Amino acid sequence: FSGALVDSYNRRHDYLRISLTESANSSTGFYCMPEEGIQLSPTEKLLTDEEILRLAKLFVQSGVTKIRLTGGEPTVRKGISGIISGLNDLRPYGLQSIAMTSNGLALHRRLPEFIDNGLTHLNLSLDTLDPFKFEFMTKRPGLDAVLKTLNIALESSRLQKIKLNVVIVKGLNDSEVLDFVEITKDKPISVRFIEFMPFTGNKWDKFKMVPSSDLLKLISEKHAGVVRLSDEANDTARSWKIPGYQGQFGFISSMSDHFCSTCNRLRITSDGQIKVCLFDAKEVSLRDLMRKGASDSEILRTIGQAVGGKEEKHLHMEDIDVVSNRPMILIGPAILNP
Ligand code: GTP
Ligand code: 5AD
Repeated sequence: FSGALVDSYNRRHDYLRISLTESANSSTGFYCMPEEGIQLSPTEKLLTDEEILRLAKLFVQSGVTKIRLTGGEPTVRKGISGIISGLNDLRPYGLQSIAMTSNGLALHRRLPEFIDNGLTHLNLSLDTLDPFKFEFMTKRPGLDAVLKTLNIALESSRLQKIKLNVVIVKGLNDSEVLDFVEITKDKPISVRFIEFMPFTGNKWDKFKMVPSSDLLKLISEKHAGVVRLSDEANDTARSWKIPGYQGQFGFISSMSDHFCSTCNRLRITSDGQIKVCLFDAKEVSLRDLMRKGASDSEILRTIGQAVGGKEEKHLHMEDIDVVSNRPMILIGPAILNP
């Protein structure tokens, strides 16, 4: 494991999230970005496919074993299929998992190709099972398309894991929690209820956030026998299961329960900045370094400095009112490092 990816709290970073684009093919949900939209970077500011693969190789050679492609909506990116193949070529260097987080709207057409190219893990963002609410929240119809993607994913024997990400917002979709749990009855998927996180302009307020403990209580009232599962190392979710159900459900409690101490994640924004924590505004441009002709060892040194400067933990819920952060869509579906 390269020292470049170990921080001053001795956390090893073996999970890299790469944002492929700032764009999305729907309004990804009001919580992802400000209502007035975002100013997209001109294409030349974004990393090229070659730059992405160069950085990916450096990270893998430094100990990264899992790469997640995010956005915006990653499938919007033209070269995505080639990027997945290019990542697949990094297996001999130690890459084990190639994951993607998508809204699933346009993915059903290309998912088999992506799986052929090496995709191993898929997380779909889906916040409602009601077609009208879906249209209200994403500003376009499409629930059927997402469910089609889910079914195609389930038919593939080569995808190792399928998860549904559900961001719960009070008054909007908290009434659907039990319906989402019911999906796990006959589908071997993991449904994850995510606490609503604040980003600049996304209208977060603490009264819209439903703590995971409330959701667990609600589910336990209906299903007395819920069983706590053991979590995988560095997992952001705490998982549970209803006996007899094929799938499981879990909670990502970024706001109410920190998991910074086990954080193993780094992220690269679509414009090539390394971001060591979702809630840290400090970013360093690896794109500019590459475009200045930096050598691999110079880039690794810069990555090492960024990782070395990673804070022990990000803001707590109590002081979150003062947070100013880049909207989620500009970071890439990311993770809070509590
Ligand atoms: P897995 O690799 O399947 O565990 O996915 P993931 O949870 O890392 O990624 P995904 O893109 O599915 O993100 C889902 C949610 O996880 C995000 O909305 C965040 O709420 C949360 N999350 C991901 N990474 C972090 C992180 O580093 N810190 C915190 N606090 N939350 C995170
Ligand atoms: N709070 C919590 N989760 C969010 N996501 C996007 N914005 C937020 C937010 N404000 C989720 C998306 C996607 C994941 C990567 O991040 O729903 O599933």
